[in-house]
Amino acid sequence: KYDGLALTPPMGWNSWNKFACNVDEKLIRETADAMLSSGMKQAGYTYINIDDCWHGERDSLGFIHPDLKRFPSGMKALADYIHSKGLKLGLYSDAGSQTCGGRPGSRGFEFQDALTYAGWGVDYLKYDWCNTEGLKAEGAYKTITAALRKAGRPMVLSICEWGTDKPWIWGPAVGHLWRTSGDIFNCFDCIEDHGTWKSWGVMQILDKQDGLREYAGPGHWNDPDMLEIGNGKLTAGEDRAHFSMWAMLAAPLIAGNDLRNMNQETKQVLTNKKIISINQDSLGIQGFRYSKANGFEIWFKPLSNGKWAVSFLNRSSEVKKLDFDWKKEKVKDDIFNKQLNTNTVVYKIENAWTGKSSGTTKNSIKADVPAHDVLTLILEES
Ligand code: DGJ
Repeated sequence: KYDGLALTPPMGWNSWNKFACNVDEKLIRETADAMLSSGMKQAGYTYINIDDCWHGERDSLGFIHPDLKRFPSGMKALADYIHSKGLKLGLYSDAGSQTCGGRPGSRGFEFQDALTYAGWGVDYLKYDWCNTEGLKAEGAYKTITAALRKAGRPMVLSICEWGTDKPWIWGPAVGHLWRTSGDIFNCFDCIEDHGTWKSWGVMQILDKQDGLREYAGPGHWNDPDMLEIGNGKLTAGEDRAHFSMWAMLAAPLIAGNDLRNMNQETKQVLTNKKIISINQDSLGIQGFRYSKANGFEIWFKPLSNGKWAVSFLNRSSEVKKLDFDWKKEKVKDDIFNKQLNTNTVVYKIENAWTGKSSGTTKNSIKADVPAHDVLTLILEES
């Protein structure tokens, strides 16, 4: 959406992956505090997004209220608190009659809800797709877009219809990001089968991004779902691979863990400046898979000022010996018309995770990439 919002992928936190319906104002305030004390805000995270289950009932005039047992001070006070910390508040609703968690949805109340959110000072709306029988996605999302515009407060709109109706086609004119798949599942490489629906491991979600990169750019992003880093299932290497690949995808970086109790490893992954700079690069070009063989993948992402990011991703369960001769490879981004000129230009190489120099593209890069881990480099013309 070309309204100046989300010119780089949104960064923030969302309650769902860790807390599901267990949300209240204490958690949200403490999360806002932790955003500052942990260094997350400094690293660029701004949105504090309350997902499903904050709702109470509609009153006799149709106005929605938060569940006052969970949010006794009300949403306006919570928004004020979050804003006082220099952060922004995100809220969640649903295009249907009820949310996925069975709370009141916005169907038939779109303009009234948008006004309410604007009055509270909401900055971001995630709009879900449960209980939408008889609705067409594009039309339903256009209705909430119109309602938000009418309400007059700029809000990022996160389209959450799970990629069902190809939101990458119509989404750029309607919202700022759109989910490309069903929910992420907290595992590196697995599919969780719920019978009528499935959720996807980190690597399965990655595979679902094939063919979508041309639709992403400043103000309109593919959303491969929120992060599972720090939620206790992934190893340190898997956390790094997850974060590197979401950076390569120019994906929204929405942390999904408990920010109040982060260990050092989690904090270091989520706040790594160089990896975040790959994600937040002003060109807003989504990376592409250059090659794939035997569980080993190479991804490239063009960056501003002629820089490139490259990730060597080891999805296999054994160490991979990398020997990559820059001068022999032909790395071209046909969609965004960029070329890595390793024949005419010498690039300096920096290891994005460690910040250390890894020589130049005059020589092949040799490294051991551990199982379920990644090597991410930034190339800069010297
Ligand atoms: C489905 C969405 O895909 C999730 O991210 C989350 O918002 C839940 N609904 C909440 O019920």
